[in-house]
Amino acid sequence: MKVLILASGRGSNFEAILKASKNGTLSVDVVGLVCDRECNAINIANSGSVPVSVLKPKDYNSKDEYTKKLIEIVGSYNPDYIILAGYMRIVPSELIDLYPLKIINIHPSLLPEFKGKDAIKQAWDAGVKTTGVTVHFVNDKMDAGLIISQEKVPVPSTLESLEENIHKVEHVLYIKAIKMLTQELKCAIVSKCLMGENVRYDGGNKYSKRVETFINNFKGVVLKVCPELDAGLGVPRNPMDIINGKVISRTGQDLSQQIESTCKRIVRSIDPKIKTLAVLKDRSPSCGKSLPYGMFAETLIKELGENVLVVTEEEI
Ligand code: GRF
Repeated sequence: MKVLILASGRGSNFEAILKASKNGTLSVDVVGLVCDRECNAINIANSGSVPVSVLKPKDYNSKDEYTKKLIEIVGSYNPDYIILAGYMRIVPSELIDLYPLKIINIHPSLLPEFKGKDAIKQAWDAGVKTTGVTVHFVNDKMDAGLIISQEKVPVPSTLESLEENIHKVEHVLYIKAIKMLTQELKCAIVSKCLMGENVRYDGGNKYSKRVETFINNFKGVVLKVCPELDAGLGVPRNPMDIINGKVISRTGQDLSQQIESTCKRIVRSIDPKIKTLAVLKDRSPSCGKSLPYGMFAETLIKELGENVLVVTEEEI
């Protein structure tokens, strides 16, 4: 898999990724480095013979022009994943549209705590006993995409040693997360309605372009599901709600068993040893992830545990 790094600073995360790809810990090709300013990351790229593109916003007349150029440069590397390693700019939504669930970031706090700049100092100033590191997908909200992995770091007696400890953890956690995405993630599950299929109770659908792009570019098994349809319920059908953990149709029928056994059947067709990413329609009694969990999301989490990441269309 080809990975492209975006960085703005020291580049120690970039260096750790490059080292892991050179010594075989990570089976990825670091195809390039894109920076928004002159920075130390460029020196690391040069000594590792990694091609560099520097794109300074001040060299462009408008944000649109800059975004267009960024998209062109990124596209020229044809990356499978874009890895932010201390990249100090907001990623334009036009770039996310092209690489949904393919852009990842590392943040030096236990998100959602201490978003934004100087997260280590924010945690220090807040006097917390434990902070940490988060690797997450990038979406349109700052430091708010789906969390891929996190690790706690206890706060020591000085800010300097906290910074040092955080960076040490970053360099290990990032490699693990990149390895998981590029080498171990072999199955994607998607709610059929997000692909534009006419499966919803009312005959409408919830097509999402980003979901479609993600699925079309996914290298692995793709399973398109609609637990309600797979349970034998037709279109149109009566809407349902989750009431006290049960799936109740608006006509008062208890459909829990029917939906639950269908969810189990689908989930048990997945190899529990491989990593799976499920992209689900939220707020649905079968698929939905928000509490109370839809039965499908709940079954996925129960049966696959740490080997599944569940993301909703709003989160990508
Ligand atoms: C890291 O702390 C990372 O979590 C944050 O920016 C910093 C980059 O450090 N996003 P480096 O440039 O990789 O050394």
